[in-house]
Amino acid sequence: MWGGRFAEGPAAVMREINASIPFDKRLWQQDIAGSRAHVAMLGQQGILSSEDVAAIDAGLVQVEAEFAEQGVPVDLSLEDIHMTVESRLAELIGPVAGRLHTARSRNDQVATDFRLWVRDAIDQVDTQLERLLRILVDRAGEHVASIMPGFTHLQVAQPVTLGHHLMAYFEMFNRDRSRFADARARLNRCPLGAAALAGTGFDTDRFVTATMLGFDGPTDNSLDSVSDRDFALDYLSAASQCALHLSRLAEEFVIWASQPFGFVALPDAYSTGSSIMPQKRNPDAAELVRGHSGRIIGCFTSLMITMKGLPLAYSKDMQDDKPPVFEAHDLLELCLTAMTGMIETATFRTERMRAAAATGFSTATDLADWLVRERNVPFREAHHIVGAAVKAAEAEGCDLPDLPLATAKAIDERLDAEVLAALTVEASVASRTSHGGTAPVRVSERIDAARAMLEGG
Ligand code: ARG
Repeated sequence: MWGGRFAEGPAAVMREINASIPFDKRLWQQDIAGSRAHVAMLGQQGILSSEDVAAIDAGLVQVEAEFAEQGVPVDLSLEDIHMTVESRLAELIGPVAGRLHTARSRNDQVATDFRLWVRDAIDQVDTQLERLLRILVDRAGEHVASIMPGFTHLQVAQPVTLGHHLMAYFEMFNRDRSRFADARARLNRCPLGAAALAGTGFDTDRFVTATMLGFDGPTDNSLDSVSDRDFALDYLSAASQCALHLSRLAEEFVIWASQPFGFVALPDAYSTGSSIMPQKRNPDAAELVRGHSGRIIGCFTSLMITMKGLPLAYSKDMQDDKPPVFEAHDLLELCLTAMTGMIETATFRTERMRAAAATGFSTATDLADWLVRERNVPFREAHHIVGAAVKAAEAEGCDLPDLPLATAKAIDERLDAEVLAALTVEASVASRTSHGGTAPVRVSERIDAARAMLEGG
């Protein structure tokens, strides 16, 4: 395809290091779509005759059918998907195939193909995220009033509800969804027609090809068009953020599934056994989501490092943009599917959660708040009084509600039996009615809003 100025063929290792076809064959549909738009535009502009356009387009349709049926042939000497398509086209329709590459280069071609591919990838992730959000909302809806400990420092802090906790992940994945949508909006400009780097002297119409390929318009600088990979980095950045959220949730499942916690029982379908310990039932799906998320973040780092030292315009280093994006996408899809299935089928052991929520003096803040509200004590002083009450309860080996009244009165006159008895986890949760708080009324409202949003309301 480019041998005119060469006397010898490439060394075997040159062929091998140069070839991207083993991985960029995944772009075959986008490559053919891009070529069909390009050739149609060349026809419209009178750059190619209508007979040539018809022959090339029919040939491309046939290549597409062949690849769909038999897969993409991998011949390292054809380097990449662009040459592979063009060479098969030439076999099918003869020398007229050579007119397809008028007014374009592989540099703008690959930039276009890859944008189209990433755009599809974003749409797939969006569908999966929507499903995950629905499952989270459904499970949260079942558990608006199921009490569990809320943690800080992984120490019992204050009671919350499982519905509230699950909805926290709804918020994260909902933001991820909007990050992918942002990436898609920014990506949606077409580099095709920038040619090698400087544009072309042919009377092309880049607006036409952009529209045919579903872009909002052409990119505005030919040098940037062939050397920009921000769109892939935006995708990887959103994927990394999403993977990070999946990993945190996975980590919680690992903790919750452990015997000391026992907050969740994962179904057989998402657990594995041990080859030596017959009793074992391990949360491998969650661990693998946690593990894979590291690899996804690694893919983001990898492409950042590939790009950061490159002068304008195209350099062959940029061929290495595809493997990390493909890998991250495959891993993310796997993780989203596994996580969705796991949440859908998990059995939450609400009685264990409730029991744990009542440990660790989790309602101490409620008592301090009561002193502030009902006895007009400044919060810092209330904090000190309750600290002493906790210390005394710890010494007695009892919970705050069971603190002997005499002991409480000795700490502070203003403490009384009624308030101590009222320190239940249920009352604590019900009282947290501030916007975004854990009170079941607030969580239910947020669930309703989330449902309406998912229904497009
Ligand atoms: N296969 C290349 C890539 O994926 C595109 C070809 C650009 N080749 C060139 N000699 N400029 O980036």
